[in-house]
Order: sequence, then structure tokens, then C-alpha cells
Amino acid sequence: MKIELNQNKIFFNNGKSIEEIHPFWLRERVDGEEFLDKGTQQRLFDPSTMDAKIIIKKAEIKNGFLEVNFNDGVNSKLDINKLETEFSNKDTVIKSIPKKKWDSALKDVKNFEYKEDFYESKEMYDLLVSFYEYGFVIIKNVPTENNYIVKFANSIGSVRRTNFGEHFNVRSKSNPNDLAYTTLQLSPHTDNPYRNPVPCIQLLHCVENEVSGGYSTLVDGYTVTEKLKKEDPGAYKILTEVKVRFKFTDKKVILEDWSELIHLDDEKNFKQVRFSPRLDYVPMLEKDKLDKYYKSRKKLSDMYNSEKNRIEFKLESKDLIMMDNHRVLHGRTKYDPKEGNRFLQGCYIDFDSTEGRLRHLKRKFKI
Ligand SMILES: [Fe+2]
Repeated sequence: MKIELNQNKIFFNNGKSIEEIHPFWLRERVDGEEFLDKGTQQRLFDPSTMDAKIIIKKAEIKNGFLEVNFNDGVNSKLDINKLETEFSNKDTVIKSIPKKKWDSALKDVKNFEYKEDFYESKEMYDLLVSFYEYGFVIIKNVPTENNYIVKFANSIGSVRRTNFGEHFNVRSKSNPNDLAYTTLQLSPHTDNPYRNPVPCIQLLHCVENEVSGGYSTLVDGYTVTEKLKKEDPGAYKILTEVKVRFKFTDKKVILEDWSELIHLDDEKNFKQVRFSPRLDYVPMLEKDKLDKYYKSRKKLSDMYNSEKNRIEFKLESKDLIMMDNHRVLHGRTKYDPKEGNRFLQGCYIDFDSTEGRLRHLKRKFKI
């Protein structure tokens, strides 16, 4: 990517084509003290109220800066490196971390160790990168006193409070309003598919685990759905098209949201999976279409439940796991409460928390 000048017109050359940069696009980016607040980096002027007929009267490139005089009397020095980061039309920090596919063969994922000043450390940056690569990360030795999980969440970003409260306690109890609060095996699922928006990241902190069962299980929804796309494009297609209703009801609230089981972005790439087969209701469609849908969902369910796609491990006291609830499915094996206590605490945060901290740490450590 290169910036070039030709008779007071400014062009960018990406090696394949040369395009003129709109003068107003540059005028919006003037960054002298008068135009940009130093502390907040927010504009001190409102370009939406300005006349878009801006003309460049003079332009020069000097020592990595583009010096421009506009016809409205404003002169500015623009950092060319900074301008070039804007040419990609995409988030260049989070999207540049490639997702790594994994299945039961996954080994050697780094676990992180909690320590003082963790949230501002380079370790935290590495942890967040690993989180975006694999869709989960495990942190050892996280304090458990006084619902520390909430402090942990609020130290990365902000806890996402729901009708279950700021955090929830996972242990078996009588009259549970969710199967999580029993000792039953839980097959792979994503949490709270009925919320709008669905919580992005689940934190689960093991306070006590004295039982021999109760293993945690994880499945990569990204790997599985990409596999389905290859092996059975018809099944993949219908599951990316049919929106189903997810619903949660209790005495005080009714939550409902609609989505495909495999949700794609504008470019038809993976964006999110929702899977919670005790809560989904497909709408009434033609019988043939439903026939296809049910076959496809069964196939996806078999893949999610296959040992080949699952990793299984035991959370120990003070282990905290962070899971991308839009990508990774989680579950657990059953356990016998007579063997001892099993007590986990959970809460949610949204992607703005992890993205915000990751960008901040990248800036801080000049990575
Ligand atoms: Fe869950």
C-alpha cells in the first residue's frame, strides 16, 4: 500500500490498482490540536454538518507525513502509517488473529497462571490472543474468595449481568430452574441462546471439585461446522438458513430470540453457533423441508456429541476457564454428589471487554 500524489490529487496504490482518495475522507481525519481532543482522540468538529465539496489546494509528502492544505483554510499533517491502517476496511487487531481449528487431538495449549498485576501484563495479552485462536483459555491459581470471578471479569472489562444475577453458582440443588444445577451429564451446548444479544464469553471458575466425575467437556463449533460444510453441504446450507426460536421461561421472565443454528456473517463466513436442543423450536415449514432440517440437525448433533470432536478435562480448584460462547460448546460428565463437593461459579462478559483490553495491551506493549 502506497500513497502517491498527482497534481494535488492523492491516490493509494495497493500494487494492483490505483484509486483516488476522496479529499473529504482526508479532511475528516485532520488531527491538529484544534481538531482532535488529545486525551480522548475524539473530533472537536462535526464533519456531518460540513459541505462535502472539499478541494485539496496543495499536497506534499514529507518524512512519513502527508501535508495537505484544504480549500476551507485548514492545513494538516497526516501520519501516513496511520492512514494506511484504515485502508483494509476491517478491524486489523482482532480479525488478524487466525482461528485455530481443533478436535479431540488438541494438545499443548498453554494454560496461564494468575499473578499480581495480571490484567495489565504482557501475559494477559498472550492469554487474549490464545483465547481468540482457540475460543477458550484456562487460567490456573485464580483466587476464589468473595466471588472473585466477578472481580476477574470486571478487571478485564465489565461483567454482563443477567436475570441470573451478576454471577451464578453451579452446584446441584433441589428444584433447579436449569439442568446445570443437577448432577446429570450435560451434553455440549452454548449458553443462553434465547438472549438478545447472546452473552459472548462465559467465565467458569472452579471453587471446589472433590468428585471423581464431573469432567468438563469442550467442542469447537467452528471446526465442526466447517467440517459439516465440506462433508454435507446440503445439511450445512439448511442449518445456516432456517431461523429457530429459543425460549426460556420462569416465573418472572420470558426470554426469546430467533437464530440459525449456524449463523454466518455478511461474507458467508462463520460467525456464531447456538446449540441447546432442550430449548430450540423450529417453525412450521413444509414437511419436506422439515425432513431435511431434522436430518441435518441430527447430523450436527452427532458431530457435536462425537468423542472425536471433544476434549475432556477435570477443572481443579482455582482453575478459571474463559469460553467463547459464540464458538465453543461446553458440557460436563455426570458426577456422584456423595463423593464430595463440586462447586463452580460462572458469569458472562461481552466481546467489547476482551477486544478493548487486547487493543489496549497491544498499544501499551507496542506489539
Ligand atoms: Fe452451560
